[in-house]
Amino acid sequence: MRTPEDLLSAMTLTEKIGQLTMVTADYAVTGPTVATDVTGALRAGRVGSLFNLYGTGATRAAQKVALEETRLGIPLFFAHDVIHGFRAICPIPLGEASAFDPTLWKATGRWAATEAAEAGLDLVFAPMLDVARDPRWGRIAEGPGEDTRIGRAVAEAKVNGFQGRDLAAADAVAACAKHYVAYGACAAGRDYASVDISDRTLEEVYLPPFKAAVEAGVATVMAAFTDLAGVPLTAHEGLLDGVLRRRWRFDGVIMSDYGAIGELMAHGVAADLTEAAALALRAGVDIDMMAYAYEKGLPQALERGLVTVEQIDRAVMRVLELKRRLGLFDDPYRRRPAGRAELPPVDAAARRAAREVAGRCLVLLRNRDNILPLPDVPGSIALIGPLADAGPEMLGNWTAAGRGDEAISVLAGLRRILPDAPITHAPGGTIDGETIPADALADTVAAAEQADHVILCLGEAGWMSGEAACRARLDLPGAQEALARAVLDVGKPVIVLLFSGRPLAMEEIFDRAAAVVACWFPGVEAGTAIADLLTGAVNPAAKLPVTWPRHVGQVPIHHAQRPGGRPFDAKNKYTSKYLDMPNTPRFAFGHGLSYTTFGLSGIKTRPMPGGVVVLGAVSNDGRRPGKTTLFLFVRDPVARLSRPVLALARFETMHLGVGEARRFGFTLTREDLGFLDEASKPTFEAGQFDLFLGFSADPERLTQVSVTVG
Ligand code: BGC
Repeated sequence: MRTPEDLLSAMTLTEKIGQLTMVTADYAVTGPTVATDVTGALRAGRVGSLFNLYGTGATRAAQKVALEETRLGIPLFFAHDVIHGFRAICPIPLGEASAFDPTLWKATGRWAATEAAEAGLDLVFAPMLDVARDPRWGRIAEGPGEDTRIGRAVAEAKVNGFQGRDLAAADAVAACAKHYVAYGACAAGRDYASVDISDRTLEEVYLPPFKAAVEAGVATVMAAFTDLAGVPLTAHEGLLDGVLRRRWRFDGVIMSDYGAIGELMAHGVAADLTEAAALALRAGVDIDMMAYAYEKGLPQALERGLVTVEQIDRAVMRVLELKRRLGLFDDPYRRRPAGRAELPPVDAAARRAAREVAGRCLVLLRNRDNILPLPDVPGSIALIGPLADAGPEMLGNWTAAGRGDEAISVLAGLRRILPDAPITHAPGGTIDGETIPADALADTVAAAEQADHVILCLGEAGWMSGEAACRARLDLPGAQEALARAVLDVGKPVIVLLFSGRPLAMEEIFDRAAAVVACWFPGVEAGTAIADLLTGAVNPAAKLPVTWPRHVGQVPIHHAQRPGGRPFDAKNKYTSKYLDMPNTPRFAFGHGLSYTTFGLSGIKTRPMPGGVVVLGAVSNDGRRPGKTTLFLFVRDPVARLSRPVLALARFETMHLGVGEARRFGFTLTREDLGFLDEASKPTFEAGQFDLFLGFSADPERLTQVSVTVG
């Protein structure tokens, strides 16, 4: 078998640069430029990997060209955005984060990897690990939410899930931790805008999920589009070569994002593609995705002395090594064997699994007078709103090989699960229509007046979150607020199902609706999973991975803020507050109701050398079995730096039968209690620590114990 070293010594400069060039095969367009004459470029050895192409036949055909029609016959790898499922689309990542369950996150990663690998893919552009504290940013939908510890847990679970135990296995795919780093902090929540955060925030908040991915053995990392304090990540030597490669010893492949090397010119740090290519390569970017900057710029950069052959060779070796690890030199067709059927259907087993996963991600935000679950014999239902029968929207953003026509709408799900309940469906206009036709509005009101139960399906379209889908407003799109008001004015209890890729500010609806479920975008089995929750077949267990603001003006709002010198005091004007709005969010991080109730008892702390053990029990005090998540937050009340009022240290999701009590024990070490010093080195200051236990970050509902740790 040929080794990467043998190949490198046989390669021309064009062939080397070819290995560093990744182009879209034009199956799905995910960026502003589209590749032309891919096959011609392939034959000439000018392409090393393809994305946006899947299916056994298509990937076999392209692989055949690479193997049989290029001089050196180096296999390609095939990549795709497999963000929340490949064929069977599961909830969007922000929704999945709501399950607070690393076992689930890993299992869905494994599942997506298996489906993707079966369709000829070797690499997925996931997990997206951008901590996001600004719901205006559309890409908040794609990530783990606002908390760094959750980001770390998602990173580890997803990398292990995607890559499995052996990257060369036919059902394993390489993961790609993206977008390195701090992309979620883009100014004013506007995609691609500049980022300017402190070194401390970078180190404490944004880097750790990526470090966790590297520690879990992630094969590749994608640099963010954005700049950090003026240095675009695509050219950030300090963060790519410095932190990733040297500090964390990452020896995998670093790739650019779509066209990002060329965008170094727009950033204003490169005069031409040659300079752009040189900056990216020197910083540590191995693969140029869709800028053709390496192809067009590196030969001149060599001539101008801006880069060295050794730098190019190092990048080529990393790409070849990735192909070796993926088993492609052993068998370039291992993820695309001859005779395999093209995309398999989403079969019954996959649908069962997708329904269960979706059920784990629906967050019950409000449930006045326990209006939910519906009674066993529910009577008639008015199902109202533009998202009531919107199957394709249920998939959300990034649908990979999922098909909108396979997705089950709320209407279809309810009809299936409640075949005897008369359901009147009234859409009441479109998702973003500025007005509602008078007859459509009248139909909704009539339906609400006549039915025993009123269910209102509101929210965003799938495309309204994700990349290049930012919103300056966080309210309901179009005329949906007017629709909701008309239906609420009927005077019956209204159950709101909210679909969105972000928290939406809709105070009046939260105040007036009897129940609200944050459904995010639940995926292919949306309707059945929602029907399970409404009927009580599934007890809601999900919780918010983001703080839910009352109004866009509160953004950024999250649970880990610092106290400031004048913390809020209602009696004192000169404290930190707004004149026109409370400081508190509508719903705290971790908020999420169940059909049962949980209690916390017997909390004790036991000091140990350099740490503390926190013990206690969680009990299910209600009348149904259910799951909940217990959170342990830490605050260091006096340190030489002001520390966050709540820092999530541990979380545990548990299932409890009726009347069951489960003991828990969390061990906190100096690492959990310490912080980074001025030189970013972990430091620990002995003294008092306040620990907070509870089922959300709502300070009113947390139980506090203080300990001294020496
Ligand atoms: C996105 C990435 C994605 C890539 C390839 C870019 O526009 O930022 O998240 O993986 O396109 O589709």
